[in-house]
Amino acid sequence: MTTGQPLIDLQDITKYFGRVHALRDISMTLHAGEVMCLLGDNGAGKSTLIKILAGVFPPDEGEYRLDGQAVRFKSPREALRSGIATVYQDLAMIPLMSVSRNFFLGSEPTKRIGPFQRYDAETADRLTREELRKMGISIRDTSQAVGTLSGGERQSVAIARAVYFGARVLILDEPTAALGVKEAAVVLRYIAQARARGLGVIFITHNVHHAYPVGDRFTILNRGRSYGTFTKEEVSREEIVSMMAGGEELEALEEELARIADDSHLAGEAVQ
Ligand SMILES: Nc1ncnc2c1ncn2[C@@H]1O[C@H](COP(=O)(O)OP(=O)(O)OP(=O)(O)O)[C@@H](O)[C@H]1O
Ligand SMILES: [Mg+2]
Repeated sequence: MTTGQPLIDLQDITKYFGRVHALRDISMTLHAGEVMCLLGDNGAGKSTLIKILAGVFPPDEGEYRLDGQAVRFKSPREALRSGIATVYQDLAMIPLMSVSRNFFLGSEPTKRIGPFQRYDAETADRLTREELRKMGISIRDTSQAVGTLSGGERQSVAIARAVYFGARVLILDEPTAALGVKEAAVVLRYIAQARARGLGVIFITHNVHHAYPVGDRFTILNRGRSYGTFTKEEVSREEIVSMMAGGEELEALEEELARIADDSHLAGEAVQ
């Protein structure tokens, strides 16, 4: 699974915002047909890293390779044309427009949609239904407003759309964050489907319990640094949680507290 040339290869990526060192020397790979989970607490640098991947801004240092070639995207559109699709949490959908209208919305035409440059509602409805069905998503009526779908269904439509428009890399920024358990499970199933169709998926999340069942490898960020990338065999859920929280800092804190407790205990004995 992780053999052969990676789709994406990041080497020592560094990014500053003024004096804030948002990312330091981050290296990571992504292969076709794998789910790489990017985990980290608030401010760890997850969004910054995906914005670099998605072409929102370039890194200050380091190299970004796609199919072994160094790239420097000037815009998200350029990254999308190279097959890197990003699904943000707010999804950029228009709630009052139909599911199928949204399915086609704002996506650059690729060779696969050449004949459909004029909007043809019937064909759009049919294609949307077919594509959703291929992903195992059943939406009764694709002419219904997207605003009537649940959060999980909307995420699923966005994932199916990216797959349909030829994405090879799917970046999902906290797709399950606002969802209940059942809805999250639905989205996780579609992540697994995208992988089965050969895409490389980068799944950003705070939630180890969502990441662990679908992830093949886990990259853990803490305050802009990487603790490394681990396979499921190499790391347990508990170890991931500990690294996300800055495990060493917690251990140091526990030792410090134990020492204080000991000292006060000894002080208490001396008084007696
Ligand atoms: N445009 C910006 N200007 C200045 N500082 C920024 C900017 N974007 C991010 N940062 C800083 O970079 C660091 C990493 O932020 P980032 O948004 O990448 O974290 P995150 O892991 O996505 O966090 P969260 O889980 O809260 O979304 C933070 O210290 C943040 O304040
Ligand atoms: Mg973020």
